[in-house]
Amino acid sequence: MRFSVTTSPIDKPKANLRAVAVFHKRKLGTQGEVLDAVLEERISGVLKAGEMDGGVGNTLLIPSVAKGSPGTLLIGLGPRKDFSVKSVRKASAALARILVERPAETVAVALDDMLPPDQRIGWLVHTLVSAIGDAGYRFTAYKGKEEVKPVRLKTVVLCVTEEQAPEAERACAEAEAILAGSDHTRDLANAPPNVMYPEALAEAARELAAKHRKLKATVLDEKELRKLGAGAILAVGQGSERPPRLIALEYSGAGKEDAPIVLVGKGITFDTGGISLKPGEAMDEMKYDMCGAATVLGVIKAVSELKLPLNVVGVITSAENMPDGRACRPGDIVTTLSGQTVEILNTDAEGRLVLCDALTWVERFKPKAVIDIATLTGACIVALGHHASAVLGNDEALIDALKKAGITSHDRTWELPLWEEYQEQLKSNFADMANIGGRPAGTITAACFLARFAEKYSWAHLDIAGIAWKSGKEKGATGRPVPLLMQYLLDQAST
Ligand code: BES
Ligand code: MN
Ligand code: ZN
Repeated sequence: MRFSVTTSPIDKPKANLRAVAVFHKRKLGTQGEVLDAVLEERISGVLKAGEMDGGVGNTLLIPSVAKGSPGTLLIGLGPRKDFSVKSVRKASAALARILVERPAETVAVALDDMLPPDQRIGWLVHTLVSAIGDAGYRFTAYKGKEEVKPVRLKTVVLCVTEEQAPEAERACAEAEAILAGSDHTRDLANAPPNVMYPEALAEAARELAAKHRKLKATVLDEKELRKLGAGAILAVGQGSERPPRLIALEYSGAGKEDAPIVLVGKGITFDTGGISLKPGEAMDEMKYDMCGAATVLGVIKAVSELKLPLNVVGVITSAENMPDGRACRPGDIVTTLSGQTVEILNTDAEGRLVLCDALTWVERFKPKAVIDIATLTGACIVALGHHASAVLGNDEALIDALKKAGITSHDRTWELPLWEEYQEQLKSNFADMANIGGRPAGTITAACFLARFAEKYSWAHLDIAGIAWKSGKEKGATGRPVPLLMQYLLDQAST
């Protein structure tokens, strides 16, 4: 799917379908009036007949008069007095759903009528492109041709005013790159776990690096991890036939003296729980336990395509958590890369183990900030459900920047406290710490564990267990939090 921006009025671009907004009580906007005049008042005629009242998210398709001439799609935006980001978001989702179901290959959308008074055109472009991209995503790699109904939509032309054009064009390029990034994240995450294992993630990183001049991939295999002393990653991976990997993708978009932002993704390509085996129900969804890693790859792809003037390092810490004769046991004590020892009381708390060695390893990049991204705790879903990721960390400014980027991108994150008091729950009788902290505040104690390995730099942790994928009928990866992290990086690039 391609998106482009034009300043020509809605009736001018070559399109199979033109979409215009209708407000409550059948009122048209400026572009709607233009199109109505061109169509000899067909739109106002249909509205007068009471076929559509302009309620938020209501839509009406007016077929073309003559063969070959474009059809018209009306999108309801509700009453003018309630015209807001909320109504536009709802209308965009409804519009997107229809556009990807229609046979139209090219559609033109009148954007200037859809812009709420308190918003910028860039915001609207981002909102619309991500809604259409989201609705148009399909994962069909393993489906027979008969069953797949392809999306016909290829080109979306966004009509804006002269004045809006420069900002709209910039936003369009950003939004397309973010979409490409989150689609990549979704493809990697949806891939089955027999295909997507640690070395496959390493290969995905090498492939990305081969496509962009400013990217460099480094992969540490299990021998190198042993030499390094990454005892925690190795412990998690030792029960699997597929050995662990530690992967770095270095993007250099700024000078050498510019300290990089480091993103660390949890890449458990399948989480059975290990010897502390998970219950069988919905265990297939634990293929999504590498969504943090997939997010890192999606973000690095988008950053490279946009050529952002920043240095960014994407790190993936990957293993498969399996029960086996060689697997680690509850009670095992391992020495982490930091030298601190951990008593593994539950082999299902493996995410923090692969992450802790990676957090020590990234000290070598002398980072400006480190953000880890992980499907870390079921407790996070209990706390926040499926709407927000949890954010915790040791730097209030970094956390605030992430919260702000989450609001802008509507890929929101909510802070949980990382108070000293919670650290007590990680006490072990036999090692420096245990890898679990009991039932209370599971998301916080997981972050407390990570905090002990992230003391040397500014750090934030995103628990994405509730937002990275959907279950049930709509089962599939969401591509979140690529939009959140991209907005954060765009904000960083512009300050
Ligand atoms: N990958 C899981 C977390 C998870 C579970 C994410 C369900 C999404 C849905 C993680 O490795 C895990 O198993 N965490 C345990 C930690 C516990 C043993 C302290 C959990 O949340 O139950
Ligand atoms: Mn687990
Ligand atoms: Zn896990």
